[in-house]
This record gives sequence, C-alpha cells and structure tokens, in this order.
Amino acid sequence: MIRYDEKNKVFLIDTENTSYGIAVVDDRYVCHAYYGKKLADTDIRYLLREDEAPLTPSVNKRETGAFLDFAHMEYPETGMGDYRESALCVRSMNGHRASELCYEGYEIVPGKPALEGLPATWGKEEECTTLKIFCRDALLGMKVTLLYSVFEGSDALCRSALIENEGEESFYIEKALSACIDMCDRDFEVMGLFGSWARERHIQRMPLGYGRQNISSFKGESSHQEHPFLALVTPETTQDCGEVYAMNFVYSGNFIAQAEKSQFDSVRMTMGIHPEGFTWKLEPGKRFTVPEVVMVYSAEGLGKMTRTFHDLYREHLIRSPYLHEKRPILINNWEATYFDFDEKKLLEIAKDASELGIEMLVMDDGWFGKRSLDDSSLGDWFVNEDKIKGGLNELVENVKKLGMKFGIWVEPEMISPDSDLYRKHPDWAIQIPGRDITQSRAQYVLDFSREEVVDAVYEMIADVLRSADISYVKWDMNRQLATLGSFALPADRQGELSHRYMLGVYRMQERLITDFPQILLENCSGGGARFDAGMLYYSPQIWCSDDTDAMERLAIQEGTALVYPVSAMGAHVSVCPNHTVGRVTPFETRGDVALLGTFGYELDITKLSAEEKELVKVQVEKYHKYNDLIREGDYYRLASVADNGYYDSWMTVEKDRSRALLFYVQVAARANAKSRFIRLAGLDADKCYMVEGKVYAGSTLMNAGVRISSEFGDFKSRLIEITEA
Ligand code: DGJ
Repeated sequence: MIRYDEKNKVFLIDTENTSYGIAVVDDRYVCHAYYGKKLADTDIRYLLREDEAPLTPSVNKRETGAFLDFAHMEYPETGMGDYRESALCVRSMNGHRASELCYEGYEIVPGKPALEGLPATWGKEEECTTLKIFCRDALLGMKVTLLYSVFEGSDALCRSALIENEGEESFYIEKALSACIDMCDRDFEVMGLFGSWARERHIQRMPLGYGRQNISSFKGESSHQEHPFLALVTPETTQDCGEVYAMNFVYSGNFIAQAEKSQFDSVRMTMGIHPEGFTWKLEPGKRFTVPEVVMVYSAEGLGKMTRTFHDLYREHLIRSPYLHEKRPILINNWEATYFDFDEKKLLEIAKDASELGIEMLVMDDGWFGKRSLDDSSLGDWFVNEDKIKGGLNELVENVKKLGMKFGIWVEPEMISPDSDLYRKHPDWAIQIPGRDITQSRAQYVLDFSREEVVDAVYEMIADVLRSADISYVKWDMNRQLATLGSFALPADRQGELSHRYMLGVYRMQERLITDFPQILLENCSGGGARFDAGMLYYSPQIWCSDDTDAMERLAIQEGTALVYPVSAMGAHVSVCPNHTVGRVTPFETRGDVALLGTFGYELDITKLSAEEKELVKVQVEKYHKYNDLIREGDYYRLASVADNGYYDSWMTVEKDRSRALLFYVQVAARANAKSRFIRLAGLDADKCYMVEGKVYAGSTLMNAGVRISSEFGDFKSRLIEITEA
C-alpha cells in the first residue's frame, strides 16, 4: 500500500513488514525519511531533523548548502552543495555540472510501468502499485520521475527513474544512478559478493568506516570479480536475526554499489550504472530510463532477505515458460571434449547418456566456422560440416532417435579477428581508431550498440536455430569490453557505448525468446560473469561457474543463492581430478552438490566406470524425486564451511511446510569428533515430521536439531528427506 499524508507531506510505501518514508521539504526537496520495520502512522517529519542543519546553527538554521550536505535525500545531485555521492550529475551545453530538482507532484497508479528496452520486475495491476514522484530542474528543462513499486505479499521495493529533456537545449547526463537511501549509521557492516573466474560470488563482510566503500564493474558486464549486490547489515546479523538493507541491480553491464559514511554519521547507500566512462546526450524531447534496483529490508536476518529476493524473482522477474518446470537433465560436451569432437563423438556421448536417463545433449563451443581452438570463427555462425558430417539437422535427428533433446552453444556478442565476418566488417568490432584493439581469448567484442550488427548476427544464429529441432541455447560471453569506441557514434556520444551495448544484448535476447519460445535459454559468461537479475529476465537459468569442483561450488552456490533462486543456478557433475582445481571428490557428493540448481553432466560419459554409471542412475532418480521441492521451495542456509571450516548445510522447505530436504556435507573430517546436531529451519513447529524412519516434532527438529554422525574421510555428503508424519 502507498499512502500520502498531505498535512505532513509524507509518502509512506508499505509492504507486508516494511515501510519506506519520503517527505517533501519546503515544497521543493524530496527527502528520504525512513526505511525499516513497518510504521503505523505517517507523522514522521521529525526524522528529518530539519532544524539541525550544521555549520551555522544559531545564525541560519536553514542555510541551503549546509542543509544539502546533511539532509537525507532520495535522489541527490551534483553541484549544489551535497558533497556525498550524488545519484545524478548533469552537464549543460555550456559545461556547467549542476542540477536542482524541485518537487512538482505525484501519482499513485496500480501496476508497474515497463522500463523501455530494459529488464525489470513486472506484475499485473492487482499485484503491484507504483508511486511516481515528479521533479523538475527549471534551468535545464529536465524532468525527473522517481519510480517506486511494491508487490502484494513481498517485502521488496523496486526503484527506477526517468529523465526527460523538456527544455530547448540538449544536456549531458554524466551519472544517473538508480537508487539512493540515507540512514543514520548503526555500526553497519558491508556485505558483497566477490571473486574471479572460476571463483565467483564468494561472500565478504567487513565493517563500514568513514568515507566510501564501493563494489563496481566497468568491464561492460556485471563480472566475475564484483557483483551488483550490496547489503548493509547490523553487527549481530546472522541468517535468522538482525537487520539487513540490500540492493540488487536488474542490469548486466557496468555498475557501482556504494556505502558512504559521512561526517554526521549518516550512511548513504547507492546503486546504479557506473559513471566511469559514461555520458548520455539527452536531446530535447528525448528521455533516458535508468535500470531498476530491487531493495529489500529484512529485520529477520539474511535468510529472510534471501527468500524475499527468491520469491520476487520467481514470481515477478523471470518470464520463461520453463520457470516452474523440471528442466531436462543435460549433458554438455565441454569438459568432455573441449574443441576436439565430431558428430560421432557426440552421438557416442548421447547414446550412453540416454541409457542412464539423461535427457538432453548440449553441443558446446567449436561446431561452427573452422573453429578447432579458441582462436577463430566467432561471428561465422555456420555449421562446420567437416566436424558435424551430414549437417546439424541429421545430428539432431539422431540424438532425438535416442530419446534426447538437443541444445547448442553460441557466443553472439563476439568476433574473432580470424573470421569471415571480421574480414568483411572490421568496423563492427568495438575499437578506438589508431589503437590496437585489446584482445582477450583471441577475440574482439562486436559493437552491439549498432542495430545492423545485432540484426545481422541474429539472422545468422536464427537460421541455425531454424535448421534443426533445437530445444536449448547456451548464450556465452567470454571477455570484457575494452578499447571502447564505436564507428557509429559521434564524439560526444562515445560515452553511451557501454549502455547502448547492453541495450543491444537485451534486444537480441528478447527477439530470440520471442521468435523461439520453445527454446530454453541459459545465459553464461566465461562461467558466471553475468549471473545477474538482468539476465534472469530473459533466461530462467544461468551457468554459475566454470568451476565444477563440488567443494569449490559450495561457496559459489552459497553466494549465488544469497540473492538468486536456486532454480536458476546451472550446476553440473564433472570428472575427477577436477579440471580446475585437481581435487578428487566422491561421485555421490558431486551429484548431491549439483542437485542445488539445474542438474546436468559435464563429462565424457563413455569413459565412466560401470560403477559410476550406476551412480548416474541413482543421481538421475534423486533429481526427479527432489527437483520440484528444490526448485520451488524456500531455501535456508544452515551452516557454511567458510565460517566453521568443517561442514556445509542447507535445506529447502516446501511452501506448505509438509516436506523438506536437508543437505549436509562433511568437507573436512575432524579427528576424534563426535556427531553434531544441525538445527533445521522453516518447518512448522507444531507439526510432526518423519526423519530417517523416526518421528519428531517440528519444534524439536528446529530447536534441538537432526543428529549427523561424523564420518571417516573428507567430502562426504548426505541428503535427508523430511516429510510430514
Ligand atoms: C565458457 C563457458 O563457461 C564454458 O562452459 C564453455 O561454454 C566455454 N566458455 C566455451 O568456450
């Protein structure tokens, strides 16, 4: 519900358990008044401390500059005297960097407007409500509409903004973030997700000091290294208690997420497109839409935050018809063959896989152009018939005869210097004239800011998809953007390239899922460099990491599941010694870890021993038994090996609390150890549950726990089903 208190000039945006307060000061400033647990009334003006402007308290209590550097603002701007991080920075044609938004009015509407060309949460009119706050800078003729949407039954709040030029002259947007909140400090700690290739999204938590702490990417993608998620938590916060303020960006390109503790002990939390290298020329009559930020406040710890994101994304972000379906168990030939395969090898894999219950073969990188290594052919999206003899359709039909579906890998955004496409259109690569193009994995990035480039690549790939019965596409992206320059943009618009590139990627993904609605799309970026909420709008699943080692995956999947539904996490069983870290783990454990996600295999199944093949059958059975529960249930993190050094545990609980599944892995054996008790979560305290043949009260399982014996040896996993008795 969204209320406006005319007398106090206060907006209160309520969700089931939270309130978000905005106040209009002096009929002019749009100030942030409150975010936290639900409030009963709107009489909250005192929270603004309007009489406490610093510097000249006894002389001029409302001296504007001082007020601006102290006030809690909704959309702070550069140039007028707020020296903290701004959300908006605009440069006029005569070079001045300043703007001064004045409140003009508001509108509360049912539903949620779509964001032009951008991924965003969505909902029916009866499911959500939007507050629009209109502001204007008279000098620039700039209108800014701040958008706030809330959904029935969700504690999330979604923010975005529209910037319109209603003036006579163009201006340049140099920064336009998506969300800002100002709060009084509560000894906040900063939580983020950090990593590297094959080591994505490890959780990091550290105290917030004075100054600015930010997490960002200007690599042109959300990145392996830093992630568009930021949470401020109180020191006592755990999985089930303490306060959390979280922001997650529904965008896949450059971002900045920042916490700034000011001289007055207030904390400003911001998120949006990274201003590094960004400018956008806004001509009269044009508008710019900033991508969406989803904010979640939880007074019940990180677990509640996680489940709020999961539910919102499953109900109001992911659109795929496959969202609520058990995905086919796939086998991907990447770790099995890398580039060294032909149709015969693929059919051998498919044959053995089909006999064990695997349902789809995915042909990974190397099937097109003359690609036999990673040094050529990106952009030449034609089947290499020297490798795939008889052509794609014949291969697909032969795979189908085995009772399996067929999937294919593509990397649409890239171009190899050694490709026919590059020889024909060298100007299609992103580049700065006169400079060597920075290469990475021997490839360049296509200029997806250009419609004709996107369209040409789309047509080539669509032709391939039309040429055979293809059920799945893995869309990969294996390098970051550099040497940023576009032949299609004038000098004063070069700063638009990275964002226009993302809009091009989104446009092509939209076209793909519209023209081929039967195709299950999985996004991927050199592993998990683009596992973000933006991509989830187009694909219900994303490859989580190139690291398939079961132990490494514990941290990667824990960090990913902190924000994103487990139904979206691409997770596969691979061989040992693991190709990334050389570790040897039991086949059973690899299967149990991969169950937390979209299950599959990434190995040469023809080389497995008879015993391992029997284990594949058991894993396939487990997947069919538990996937509905894992995919649709509530996820609870119970223990993390990163904290305790020995074991990891999570569980998933059916929404009606009638059934649950406990996962436990003993990562490291401990000498002379006794059994441990894992306290369950999310059950109904008053119900009785059957666990391994014995009945317990829900309260006993949650307060005293399930007893797990210590085992001899490392990396041992257990799955325990809990059913209502
Ligand atoms: C990176 C992906 O994450 C891998 O799974 C594989 O598809 C390779 N790219 C292929 O180049």
